[in-house]
Amino acid sequence: MTDLLLSLGSNAQARSLFRTLGLPIPLPATLRRARGPVSDRELADKKILFAAHADAPLASMCASALARAGADCYLDDFEPLRERFRGPCEAFGRGPHALALLNESTKLDGVVVDLSSASAIGDLRVLYSSLRGTVTRLRPSGRVVVLAASAAEGDAEKRATQQAIDGFVRSLAKELGRNGSTANLLRVKDDSESRAGAALTWLLSERSAFVTGQCLEVTSSARAVNTNTGTHNRALEGKTALVTGAARGIGAATARALARDGAHVVCVDRQDDGALSALARELSGRAVALDIAAEDAGESLRALFAERPLDVVVHNAGITRDKTLARMTDAHWDDVLAVNLRSIVETTRALEPALREGARIITLSSVAGIAGNTGQCAYAASKAGVIGWTRAESARLASRGITVNAVAPGFIETKMTEAMPVAIREAARRLSALAQGGRPEDVAEAIAFFASPAAQGLTGHVLRVCGGALIGA
Ligand code: NAI
Repeated sequence: MTDLLLSLGSNAQARSLFRTLGLPIPLPATLRRARGPVSDRELADKKILFAAHADAPLASMCASALARAGADCYLDDFEPLRERFRGPCEAFGRGPHALALLNESTKLDGVVVDLSSASAIGDLRVLYSSLRGTVTRLRPSGRVVVLAASAAEGDAEKRATQQAIDGFVRSLAKELGRNGSTANLLRVKDDSESRAGAALTWLLSERSAFVTGQCLEVTSSARAVNTNTGTHNRALEGKTALVTGAARGIGAATARALARDGAHVVCVDRQDDGALSALARELSGRAVALDIAAEDAGESLRALFAERPLDVVVHNAGITRDKTLARMTDAHWDDVLAVNLRSIVETTRALEPALREGARIITLSSVAGIAGNTGQCAYAASKAGVIGWTRAESARLASRGITVNAVAPGFIETKMTEAMPVAIREAARRLSALAQGGRPEDVAEAIAFFASPAAQGLTGHVLRVCGGALIGA
């Protein structure tokens, strides 16, 4: 669906005209998105600045992740950190360099600030001092990632300090959105440093274009099954994935992303009017016409995977039947709860024996499930229920190395949102830091990342892919 403001925003003359006329409508920035398959060098030639508080506990992890992914590392406070960066950077022939030697007019692609050792209120000043001068040097679609410790450990002042970082990052995300840039927070638990590099790389890459103002926490909760912690081309080679609601929208984009990463994808949708089988043919996958809310859906899926272990399950199928509570019918309520929530509980129960150790389950929630919405009592209940289920199952399945995460999209341009009244649709697009709707591919990239072996440190998350939507922020 065409977004007129976004089209105008990509035209330099229109941008300059809007500025000259002083029109009070901000033109959204065109987001830089990754094209093509994931590569070992997702950050190739990107200039990433690293700054830190005090002893920078995560400096070595960052140095390895950034250099491995092909980035050029710049250091704000060069001498104290140089030794920690030298080994990893030189192994890949990439620096490190002193920021002071970079021409003032040269733009940075990203800034990483390690605040993981901050434990007193005064330590927060590093956030302000290291980012104040550098955010203006970020190029459009730039990235800020702040690294922090768990906000649930330590004394009261440490917890206050670590929690304060959250507010800072969410606010910065709103300030940077006009430029198409993002700011996110990555918390790394003490024993989980070795699992953090993949999440850092993904947040800095062009695959996280519509993720901003979010917090991910890397933990060792899910038992190590995969030793593969880097970002890799065709990371799902030899694996089997199931995607429900795959015929169109986010489901189709997800099936494509998983197949791109090497998976054999079983594409399920309520019926096959041609789109489903065409997609399965395109991906050399398999099309299965199945109503996932039917009573025997679990049984059918169990039979389908009796001989073929499953590595990735994406519970994407979902419906809206928006009505205020007073106008809602029994059928509206029952359908929404059955498709969006009950089917997830029941089909996973049926599929559990087929799940391989280290498998991935990804559910689709929604920002409506976090914030609620007028006319969406049933939908929001179902999507909040998805969050509860995701958290509970992530804890239960952690001992098998299985991770369970939810993705909560904001406004994404699909048939589902095309059905919204025009005024509400326009408001939903603009009321976000990035001032535009996301694409199905933006959600698919988040799902593909959670599905990758490198995401073993992430489980029980609800990651909003919402462009910093003000709803539920
Ligand atoms: P969509 O309406 O474009 O596609 C949904 C697909 O699910 C369709 O192909 C449909 O046939 C299939 N489906 C529905 N009921 C089914 C059933 N009983 N059995 C099998 N397949 C069934 O939706 P879209 O926009 O791609 O959304 C995908 C998911 O993302 C949904 O769970 C939705 O709630 C969620 N979401 C979407 C947002 C958006 O802005 N588009 C925002 C927040 C969440």
